[in-house]
Parts: sequence; C-alpha cells; structure tokens
Amino acid sequence: MTVQEALTRGTGQLAAHPQLRERALQDAALLLMHTLGISRTALIAHPERIFTRDEQAAYQRAIERRLTFEPIQYITGEQEFYGLPFHVTSSVLIPRPETELLVEAVLARVSGAGRIVDVGTGSGAIAVALAKYLPHAAVTAVDLSPAALAVARENAAHNQVAITFVESDLLAALKDEALFDAIVSNPPYIPEDDAASLHPEVREYEPSQALFAGATGMDVYARLVPQAERHLRPGGLLAMEIGFGQREPIAQLLTGWQDVEFLDDLQGIPRVALARRHQES
Ligand SMILES: C[S@@+](CC[C@H](N)C(=O)[O-])C[C@H]1O[C@@H](n2cnc3c(N)ncnc32)[C@H](O)[C@@H]1O
Repeated sequence: MTVQEALTRGTGQLAAHPQLRERALQDAALLLMHTLGISRTALIAHPERIFTRDEQAAYQRAIERRLTFEPIQYITGEQEFYGLPFHVTSSVLIPRPETELLVEAVLARVSGAGRIVDVGTGSGAIAVALAKYLPHAAVTAVDLSPAALAVARENAAHNQVAITFVESDLLAALKDEALFDAIVSNPPYIPEDDAASLHPEVREYEPSQALFAGATGMDVYARLVPQAERHLRPGGLLAMEIGFGQREPIAQLLTGWQDVEFLDDLQGIPRVALARRHQES
C-alpha cells in the first residue's frame, strides 16, 4: 500500500461517520503525518512512498481512536497556541484559539517586569505564552491537578521559559503577602447541566475538572474573584476568560473593582473580563 492509498482509505473510514465527515481528509492527513513523522510537504511530495506493515497498523490504530471521537490533539499529542508548540495529554484541556484573546489583552496591559500568576494552568498555555513574550516578568502557574502540572512543566522546558509551578486550589497555597501585578485565569466555567449538550469530543475526553464549575458555571469565579483581590497589588489586573452568557454575573462579582471591561471574541461573544483592584485610599 502507498501513502496515497492509505490516505484515501483513512479518509473513507472517517467520512463514513456523519459527525467526522466534514474534516475527514484533514484529520486523516494529520494522523498520517503523525504516524510517519513527516511534514505536509513530504506527504504531498511522495504519495507513492510505500507504507510498511508496522506503519499501516499504527495508522489504523490512530484512525480507530479518532472514530471514537478522541480529539486529534490527544492522538498526536500536539497543539499550537499563540504561535508556540504545546504537548497535550488527556490530563489537560486542549488550548483553544479564543484563549489567545486573553493572552493578548494581558500583554497589552502588563509592563515588562511584572509578577504574574496563571490560575488553572492546564497545559501551561497561558503562562508559557506570557513568559515567552514578557521575558522579564516573574510568572507563577498553579493547578489543582498534579498531572496537568507535569505537562505544563514539560511545555515550559520545551519552550525555554522559567515558570514557578505550584499545586494549589486556586490561590490557597500562595502566601497572602505574595502580591501580583496580574492574575490571569481561564478557569472551568461550563454549567454542569450543559454536559449532555457538549460535543462527545469534549465531554468524553477532556478532563471534567477543566470544564465544569457547578450548576451555573460560576462556582470557580465566585471563589477566585475575592481571592484575587487579596493577592493583587492596588491597581493590579485581574484577567479572566468567561463563557457564554456570563458577562452580567461576572460584572456583579466585580462590583467595587475599577476599569471593568469586557472584550468580545470573533463571534461577538464577551470572552474576556478585565478589572483592576481598587487603589488604597
Ligand atoms: C479550562 S482549563 C484551562 C487550562 C489552560 N489554562 C488553558 O487555557 O488552556 C482549567 C484548568 O483549571 C484547573 N482547575 C480547576 N479547578 C481548579 C482549582 N480549584 N484550583 C486550581 N486549578 C483548578 C483544571 O485542572 C484545568 O487545568
């Protein structure tokens, strides 16, 4: 069997499933490049390359994983975020493009040498991107999950940035006197009742600890906002990703904060909440 024949066969297997049809060719090609460890250019340049039996078996295993709706990124172990490469496993949320808006908002507002903490770091996507583009900042990253922290540590090393990692329930393990210039978080924010309506790729494979936050999706914000107030210097920035319909309840939680602002994503949905801790009088 040639590489071209394998690609045609893999595409056909995925396209037979109505929910995988739309991206069948793209997914089959990504899995083929991953199996062979080759680039897209090499795939296109040598369609006649012969596929060994071992390669065929590995490719078939990858296609079968995809047929159970496992996200491509967990099969290949890779996802790009903010132009940087990240290793991902099923212990971490796959970094999403909309989270780049949060990083961009922080980069535009924090000075070069600030102290920043990323709460619920997962793969380390936000913390690593901030550390990379603010090389003089002191970046800390916390998560409740030791498995996520192991992945985040690996990503920091791979992207050659220094980050202090702490296993912590939100900011609980950080000393009260540790005052930050910015607290950044993409916390879990999906209401538990929405689980049934999530795509199986998300519901069955991404860590529930990374997705859900109580009946309304507000549980983590309700704990994080008051903790953030104690851990920010006066005028310090709180920047959080928020979910659909959460602008109003978040605005309520931010009563008493200054410069409260919401940024829309490309679909026009409020996606980032920004606020500054009040100045001491
Ligand atoms: C939505 S994911 C975000 C991951 C990553 N920051 C990103 O944007 O791709 C939320 C993360 O928060 C972590 N988390 C959930 N509850 C937490 C808590 N109480 N304290 C610390 N981390 C928590 C989860 O383990 C998960 O890694």
